[in-house]
Amino acid sequence: MMKILVTGGAGFIGSNFVCYLLREHPDWEVTNLDKLTYAGNLENLGDVEGNPGYHFVKGDITDRELVDKLLGQGFDVVVNFAAESHVDRSILDSSPFIRTNVQGTQVLLEGARQHKVKLFLQVSTDEVYGSLGAPGKFTEESPLLPNSPYAASKAAADCLCRAYYHTYGLPVVITRCSNNYGPFQFPEKLIPLVITNALESKEIPVYGDGLNVRDWIHVEDHCRALDLIIQQGKPGEIYNIGGNCEETNLQLVHCILAIMGKPRSLITFVADRPGHDRRYALETSKIERELGWRPAILLGEGLRGTVQWYIQNQSWWQRVKSGEYVEYYERMYSQRAGSG
Ligand code: NAD
Ligand code: TYD
Repeated sequence: MMKILVTGGAGFIGSNFVCYLLREHPDWEVTNLDKLTYAGNLENLGDVEGNPGYHFVKGDITDRELVDKLLGQGFDVVVNFAAESHVDRSILDSSPFIRTNVQGTQVLLEGARQHKVKLFLQVSTDEVYGSLGAPGKFTEESPLLPNSPYAASKAAADCLCRAYYHTYGLPVVITRCSNNYGPFQFPEKLIPLVITNALESKEIPVYGDGLNVRDWIHVEDHCRALDLIIQQGKPGEIYNIGGNCEETNLQLVHCILAIMGKPRSLITFVADRPGHDRRYALETSKIERELGWRPAILLGEGLRGTVQWYIQNQSWWQRVKSGEYVEYYERMYSQRAGSG
């Protein structure tokens, strides 16, 4: 039996992870603390609704009192997904990124220290390493050179985690994962944006020359790695988690359009993202060697499943693509369209 506090469990990766854990470990108890920002959605958790091992608490990770009270219930593990997660939004306004990603992580670390949590798992990103020229890959020892306000806030959180391990001996593990895709991803991110815009026969905005490279991993492979780390990860360590699957944005969009039988004429080149990282690629031999983990889902197969999921869950993304999203989308793309 393990008692786990997952933060940000109503978001894309967090909700996949909560469902994954309760499926793989029916005797574990999972509490989900989530503020339900624009990115949090309880519909993502339909599979665990009514499961006696699942509990939901609506709240903010920057709320010291709440976090202290909650952690006082006694948890073995904290897995911190809660974050502002979209680079473009961090360019429009970085304040919520500092608040949640930096201050929120500090509040959780402090609570975990006070209440002697056995493992604090910080879910971080390859973006903290900055941008890579070809060839080469980031290792866990690569310097932190974040280029966007989002990446800078995640790097700051990673540094706080390191400090809590070294100063207080809090058993912390940091994971740095590459770009995830799969069901329940918010359609501000590239893959669900392409799929849902294509389903609506809307333009697909590609930034700059479309030749930026990302390493894609299916969310299920990420969840499996995190589960292994909870059980076998070594405190004080950092683990890169990558899909070993580099694609240019343009190759990826072409592939999705081919799967969907939609024309490439939907693609519209727009002005580049300021500070746009050219390439991310991760060296993952550490987690392969130490924990025997490897990604299992090939990109083609994963994309076909993801397209299928968005086709079958139109009402989910149509609801999500309303209200605040419409405002955001217009603000973002009216700036960029026409200047590509
Ligand atoms: P997401 O934006 O889909 O979900 C974030 C969740 O956090 C939402 O449910 C939101 O309501 C919640 N949240 C935000 N602020 C909060 C606060 N102050 N208190 C409590 N809850 C709050 O994000 P995601 O894509 O699922 O990413 C999850 C984590 O994984 C993030 O930490 C992100 O940095 C990291 N990560 C993401 C990727 C990726 O490709 N998406 C890759 C590597 C790492
Ligand atoms: P994104 O999904 O935002 O992830 P990240 O910036 O964290 O890697 O973007 C993935 C890549 O796709 C990135 O190089 C930016 C690019 N992109 C577009 O070309 N058009 C879009 O509309 C979006 C959202 C992203």
